[in-house]
Amino acid sequence: MSGSLKPWALVTGAGGFIGHHLVTYLKAAGYRVRGVDIKEPEYGRTDADEFMVLDLRELKNCQMSTAGMSLVYNLAADMGGIGYITASRAAIAHNNSLINLFMLEAARASNVERFLFSSSACVYPHGLQVSPDVAPLREEDAFPAQPEEGYGFEKLYAEKLCQYYTEDYGLLTRVVRFHNVYGPLGTYDGGREKAPAAMCRKVARASDRGQIEVWGDGKQTRSFMYVDDCVEGIHRIMRSDYAMPLNLGTDELVTVDELADLVIDISKKRIALVHDLSKPQGVRGRNSDNTRLRSVLQWEPRITLREGLVPTYNWIAEQVALEDGAKRMPGAAVAAE
Ligand SMILES: NC(=O)c1ccc[n+]([C@@H]2O[C@H](COP(=O)([O-])OP(=O)(O)OC[C@H]3O[C@@H](n4cnc5c(N)ncnc54)[C@H](O)[C@@H]3O)[C@@H](O)[C@H]2O)c1
Repeated sequence: MSGSLKPWALVTGAGGFIGHHLVTYLKAAGYRVRGVDIKEPEYGRTDADEFMVLDLRELKNCQMSTAGMSLVYNLAADMGGIGYITASRAAIAHNNSLINLFMLEAARASNVERFLFSSSACVYPHGLQVSPDVAPLREEDAFPAQPEEGYGFEKLYAEKLCQYYTEDYGLLTRVVRFHNVYGPLGTYDGGREKAPAAMCRKVARASDRGQIEVWGDGKQTRSFMYVDDCVEGIHRIMRSDYAMPLNLGTDELVTVDELADLVIDISKKRIALVHDLSKPQGVRGRNSDNTRLRSVLQWEPRITLREGLVPTYNWIAEQVALEDGAKRMPGAAVAAE
């Protein structure tokens, strides 16, 4: 076998949004890649050398997945936007606990070299996110703990499990806290979609001079990271020597109304915002402090929200047009900027 061949990498959740892009990135970087998911990739074909459809809530399936792997990127999770994670706490905590417990144990037993866990900004305490002009969240802010119920609690527990597996068994782990990732090939409909995708879908479906619904008063703030930055960051963190949790996000803070206005501007339509205060809006403000990320990697995400929203909107507008049976939606053909 050629000595120049890169190791095998396992990507779980490879049928989902970030996993799909990560497989493509790792293949382009020369890795041999096995993808695993409970479902086939939803949008487009995977570049993985092998793709296994397996339910990772079962230990034997995690063992089958990790066998022969050097690197494990554990992205599989039951997750969605704020509507879904607010309504499904028990299922999310149950499903993700099983996936993460069994994936870590299988990785240890298979002697993998490194294990990366995809955590979330939802681990940060509620009390630090009560105003739109929130201070950016530093990694050490996660304790004392008061995370998002269900989804965030489970992520925080799985972060600790990674630490324990490193301390007790010597398994090298990396823990990445993603902050709101968006881009093409992400869920944009059906209840699990997150704010940028939902906004793009609503604008794509709205007619010129129409209106779209925004959850909450629109003044809640977030930062958003384009998926290309996300997969590059994941790869860099996996190769780094840093074993503690790290933020991976941008610190370009915008209100949800500003996010909607950007999408509307890209669509070249004139659309009014109508606020629905009865809908869940999550924490009032959330931003990523990238001080540690910069010092560990000498790198940070750099694609602006406008730059990332153009291909995202175009892709979602195209899906919507396909769904609607039309060859081309009015306003969907936005020139790449
Ligand atoms: N997208 C974001 O903004 C964001 C933010 C913070 C954290 N994360 C984390 O990043 C990871 C990837 O997120 P994503 O946005 O790509 O979500 P996604 O829902 O598109 O992908 C997750 C994938 O996991 C798969 N999965 C769920 N249960 C499974 C099971 N029992 N067995 C096998 N596969 C299963 C799903 O089918 C899905 O394809 C998740 O761990 C998520 O919690 C994402």
